[in-house]
Amino acid sequence: MSASAGTPATSREWHLVARPQGWPKPEDFALREAPVRQPGEGQILVRNTHMSVDPYMRGRMSGVKSYVDPYELDKPMLGGAVGRVVASGAEGFEEGDHVLHHLGWREYALVNAKSAVKVDPDVAPLGTYLGVLGMPGLTAYAGLLRVADFKEGDTVFVSAAAGAVGSQVGQIAKLKGASRVIGSAGSDEKVRVLVEEYGFDAAFNYKNGPVREQLAEAAPDGIDVYFDNVGGEHLEAAIASIKLHGRIAVCGMISQYNATEPTPAPRNLAQIIAKRFRMEGLLVGDHYDLQGRFVEEVSAWVRSGELKYRETVVHGVDNAVDAFLGLLRGENTGKMIVRLGD
Ligand SMILES: NC(=O)c1ccc[n+]([C@@H]2O[C@H](COP(=O)([O-])OP(=O)(O)OC[C@H]3O[C@@H](n4cnc5c(N)ncnc54)[C@H](OP(=O)(O)O)[C@@H]3O)[C@@H](O)[C@H]2O)c1
Repeated sequence: MSASAGTPATSREWHLVARPQGWPKPEDFALREAPVRQPGEGQILVRNTHMSVDPYMRGRMSGVKSYVDPYELDKPMLGGAVGRVVASGAEGFEEGDHVLHHLGWREYALVNAKSAVKVDPDVAPLGTYLGVLGMPGLTAYAGLLRVADFKEGDTVFVSAAAGAVGSQVGQIAKLKGASRVIGSAGSDEKVRVLVEEYGFDAAFNYKNGPVREQLAEAAPDGIDVYFDNVGGEHLEAAIASIKLHGRIAVCGMISQYNATEPTPAPRNLAQIIAKRFRMEGLLVGDHYDLQGRFVEEVSAWVRSGELKYRETVVHGVDNAVDAFLGLLRGENTGKMIVRLGD
């Protein structure tokens, strides 16, 4: 085993200490000290440099078992992270290597090397492995091209369009020959970014008026595909605008993640009969067989500048919960990342 000098005896990690009811509160979390242990056989000790905060984490804070286990109380939370190996007990991993793994929400992580993937900062900036070239990117790629069965000439509508997944959905649709791409977002500045930087044909601020009216105006001939990140009023509006045999890929319903009462189904769902549209849920974990194609195609677009991305970076482990809460409030444009150090 190799170990770098200067590794501290303890480091900090975020624990969930109470299950949030409605909107999470800072008191639901605690930043605690934990010993930094040296790696055993097959393990690596990683100094996390970047950690991800993602909307799905809100679901893991509830006690309900879903497609991923809930976070345990008084234990460190989990999530995507990138870091530098500072000690290795695993063949094939050396001090100084960079890895992507799932033990975020902490400064140092003792990682089973089998669950870590090496990443190269000379190929792409490390933050991109959590965003445009990472899980949200694959979600956009697989969700649009496979689940929504995108076809050249389609009119595509995507919600949370200035976020990590949404901004990529809209741009991939344009690059693949969509006839019209429409996005919704929660501020006029985000709407400007969608049209001026990402090349959306139209965009609107859903806080400025009813989504149904704004969508109908932006897509007077209707939409073929709706990529749903939001649910609720957005989903109803999309059903109202969708064409015969349209497709809805349901990726997320962030407008409902903090709801304390059961949320109603779209009130116009019966239109599924007359319009024969298809609506299908999407889980990124089902689509890792597309990883190779996704990285090849999207990294080429990123390198050529055809696909643009933004990151909102919050600095310091102390601010990780604020970053997560900010994400739920829409304070990010593009992927929300917490920078933990070098
Ligand atoms: N199924 C899967 O496998 C999978 C994988 C990854 C992500 N997702 C889902 O994809 C969606 C986007 O995830 P992301 O990581 O790219 O996050 P993101 O879009 O970068 O960030 C979340 C955004 O949601 C918007 N939002 C928050 N509350 C809203 C509301 N009430 N109505 C409308 N918009 C609201 C905010 O932007 P505004 O300023 O525009 O409100 C915020 O910036 C989420 O629903 C997430 O759960 C699903």
